[in-house]
Amino acid sequence: MRNMTEAELTEVVLKRYADTPDPRLRSILQSLIKHLHAFAREVMLTEQEWMAGIQFLTRTGQISDDKRQEMILLSDNLGLSSLVNHVSANVPEGATETTVLGPFYVPNSPPRGWGESVLLREGDETPLIIHGRVRDKANQFIPGATIEVWQTDSNGMYDIQDRSQPEDNLRGCYTANENGEFLIRTIRPTSYPIPTDGPVGVLLRATNRHPFRPAHVHAIVSAPGYRTLTTHLFDSEDQYLDSDVVFAVKQSLIRSFELNESPSDAAKFGLKKPFWELENDFVLTIAA
Ligand code: BEZ
Ligand code: FE
Repeated sequence: MRNMTEAELTEVVLKRYADTPDPRLRSILQSLIKHLHAFAREVMLTEQEWMAGIQFLTRTGQISDDKRQEMILLSDNLGLSSLVNHVSANVPEGATETTVLGPFYVPNSPPRGWGESVLLREGDETPLIIHGRVRDKANQFIPGATIEVWQTDSNGMYDIQDRSQPEDNLRGCYTANENGEFLIRTIRPTSYPIPTDGPVGVLLRATNRHPFRPAHVHAIVSAPGYRTLTTHLFDSEDQYLDSDVVFAVKQSLIRSFELNESPSDAAKFGLKKPFWELENDFVLTIAA
């Protein structure tokens, strides 16, 4: 079709995609086209503005590699990762809610023994003990479940952002015992700014937004026969809970870390001094 009008253009493009054999791909692409066209019409996008957008996306791709995921960061900052989580998670009542993965997950983190610390550097921070069970809604414990955790160090950086940290500092994979119990030793997380030295930082400054995430420990909990749970445990005392830069806080994931000063409790966890304590069960959903 030649000399089509602006009004006809969208229909023509949609028809051109109508023979996509995979029905789900066809539906996603046709909806994407409709919404992109509606967006360009609504804001009367100029060619210069679209070129600026293309250059922004190009820089976002160019700065990304296997350690730096600026594309994920962009999706997170636009609230899209969180929206996709909300529309697709489908977590039943009583199971632990999910939230975004984020760009700092590294697969195959090293196994950690019972109560072994993920803090691999010297330091006199008060330890944080997270203990509980991996179970399902019916209170069936899940022996052998794995719990991968990762978090920033007290300088607000993940090991993969900060060469001064030992490799795999503050990340590791724990395994639940025969009763589904686990014992994680770490330090209390801090709030931290997401990386602002790339295109996403440009976006944040242009829109007058702060770059902080509230303090959290990430976890991926998996066991055969259950849906893998990707979640966070947020610190209830954090000042950024209501303004998380990536919109990923859920009320049900906010936890209180309690200072435990009992020497006998400390001894129970192999510690000699007061510690922060969180008792937390991870509740998995049986796979469909
Ligand atoms: C994170 O929690 O690691 C994270 C999530 C989304 C964007 C940036 C960081
Ligand atoms: Fe994080």
